[in-house]
Amino acid sequence: MRILSGIQPSGRLHVGNYFGAIRQYLKLQAEGNQCFYFIANYHAMTSVQDRSTLEEMTLDVARGYLALGIDPEKSTFFVQSDVPQVAELCWILNCVCPVSLMEKATSYKDKIAKGLPASMGLFDYPVLQAADITIYDADLVPVGADQKQHVEMTRDLAGRLNRAVGADVLVLPEAYIVPEVAVVPGIDGQKMSKSYDNTIEIFQTDKQTAKRCAAIVTDSTPLEAPKNPDRCNVVALLRLFATADEVADITAKYRAGGYGYGMAKKRLAELINEHFADARKRYDKLQAEPDYVRDVLREGGRKARTVAEATMERVRTACGILRHM
Ligand code: ADP
Ligand code: TRP
Repeated sequence: MRILSGIQPSGRLHVGNYFGAIRQYLKLQAEGNQCFYFIANYHAMTSVQDRSTLEEMTLDVARGYLALGIDPEKSTFFVQSDVPQVAELCWILNCVCPVSLMEKATSYKDKIAKGLPASMGLFDYPVLQAADITIYDADLVPVGADQKQHVEMTRDLAGRLNRAVGADVLVLPEAYIVPEVAVVPGIDGQKMSKSYDNTIEIFQTDKQTAKRCAAIVTDSTPLEAPKNPDRCNVVALLRLFATADEVADITAKYRAGGYGYGMAKKRLAELINEHFADARKRYDKLQAEPDYVRDVLREGGRKARTVAEATMERVRTACGILRHM
């Protein structure tokens, strides 16, 4: 099975990215699939336009992926812009993409509502994503629930191009979404997202994690009173990190009363710090080895370009795009 997914380097990796996407990347990698994982820096330009921020975040996310277990020996791991063919395929898909299809994109509408300028890049975001996915002939795309519509649009666009050229030049992919972790809540109970400033970052100190957990929004039920665990942001996050037995124990304590939110937050921070302790060590080590990270990305880019170029030859020929180089 050919797997592909990407994350924008528009901020630091958080617990939502891990459970919604990266954990599935690792599982699919361990199962021996042909995995392509990349850093979507062209996509990030729709929101990040400062040179040093984009450079820094690209390498930061690269370190994060590697520290969490993306293995460049097993997966093709690269930066989106190292495969410029993807921008070429994006153009070709643009030519079969109805404007009305893009007008339905909920992520576009959300981002505009949040104040991002309505650039052509932002409007075209799903078409570039469709190019990312189809240029590697991906079958399966592991993502969080917010990306479902983009994968459906990809199927739509691939089908349109295939029909336009009268041949199956592009593979129609499917989203791979794990329902229990499709939407990880942030510290305010909304979907955890960089753009809501409600994340718990993966690569931070134990102390910073504890501080962030302490800031999780809860109601004002007093310590001694019984509490409803099903409506608590702390418990929602605890379910991701604690064993089933511990969750049962904590939810029973909630219902009984005498167990405060502060205690649950403290336990959550401990669990998060334990969960990411090894990855954090690897991340720190990688920070001291920038040349290694760049070499990995260079090699991944080389492999990805070979696959992308083969798809593009097929597509160009089918479309009647002549080349003289
Ligand atoms: P953000 O919303 O913080 O900008 P991205 O859009 O970069 O995150 O998401 C990268 C990947 O992580 C995508 O596959 C996305 O679906 C997944 N993801 C992000 N936030 C969450 C969340 N809160 N719950 C589940 N998956 C998420
Ligand atoms: N749009 C995705 C996000 O915000 C990132 C992304 C870009 C992506 N290209 C992709 C995800 C291709 C999966 C496949 O999270």
